Amino acid sequence: MAATEREPPSSIEASNANRPQMFHRISDNAIDESSDADSDFVKLQKTISKERREARESPQARLQRAFPFTFHPNIRPLSKSDYESCIALENAAFPDPAHRATPEKASSPWPNMGHLGVFCTVVPEKAKNWTIETLDTAKPVETDRPNGAKSVLVAHIVSTRCAGDTITDKDMDYPKDWRTRRGRSADVGHQEGGRTVAMHSLAVAPKLHGCGIGQMIVKAYLQQLKNAGLADRVALICQDYLVSYYERLGFKCIGKSPAEFGGGGWHDMVSHDP
Ligand SMILES: CC(C)(COP(=O)(O)OP(=O)(O)OC[C@H]1O[C@@H](n2cnc3c(N)ncnc32)[C@H](O)[C@@H]1OP(=O)(O)O)[C@@H](O)C(=O)NCCC(=O)NCCS
Repeated sequence: MAATEREPPSSIEASNANRPQMFHRISDNAIDESSDADSDFVKLQKTISKERREARESPQARLQRAFPFTFHPNIRPLSKSDYESCIALENAAFPDPAHRATPEKASSPWPNMGHLGVFCTVVPEKAKNWTIETLDTAKPVETDRPNGAKSVLVAHIVSTRCAGDTITDKDMDYPKDWRTRRGRSADVGHQEGGRTVAMHSLAVAPKLHGCGIGQMIVKAYLQQLKNAGLADRVALICQDYLVSYYERLGFKCIGKSPAEFGGGGWHDMVSHDP
């Protein structure tokens, strides 16, 4: 599970980093004029702050720019019929193939309450030039709708249960003989009685990154688990650049993970919220 690194700082941020700290910056929005910095420099800083504020689009603004139609998210558990869209989303969202769920892994049995998706309804007439990697695999909202509306997957969470408090390589794996096991338990992959939800994948379609959809699905998922009372914690592994992202969603970083899945370098994150 990995994301591309954030973009390098903008030219404004870069030039600011090299500037002598002659003033007290209170926040992005305020300059402390009580300091003895000369007024031209304060003026310059105010201009830079204004430019930075204007350059930073809100998630709502990004969302509006990303959709040429009104976005009404539909959050629901994924079913096997969503399988092809999940694969398309994994391929689009994870630049490193080693971090994606393989089609074989994704086709193994899906645990109850394991997977959640965010969908949007797309009416071809209203979204003529709009495209997204999961459009081709989307299913009709209702088969007899005259406008041909489709329900398109834009984000998903894929999970299993595990027995320990954190995720191991065994948990990230799946029984290769699942087709012939007929429900018998295996020592890798989903552990039916486990009280830890192991979040394998959080993925948002790339053109919708930064619109708040990732936070939306994680919050919805944690709330759903809390309401069901079927787990004590949610665990995941992430690369260091996403540690603070998950901390803001209520996860705690409890150190480096021994998991070597996809090349290693993971951190263990745990939420006790559900
Ligand atoms: C990581 C991911 C799920 C975030 O979802 P999202 O919908 O883009 O994120 P949200 O809009 O909810 O949150 C945006 C905030 O997340 C943080 N963030 C998102 N992606 C980030 C990244 N790759 N690196 C660092 N911070 C990131 C930023 O702080 C951002 O805040 P900003 O708006 O002030 O810049 C999404 O980028 C993704 O699908 N990435 C590829 C797959 C992946 O790596 N999944 C995580 C596996 S552990």
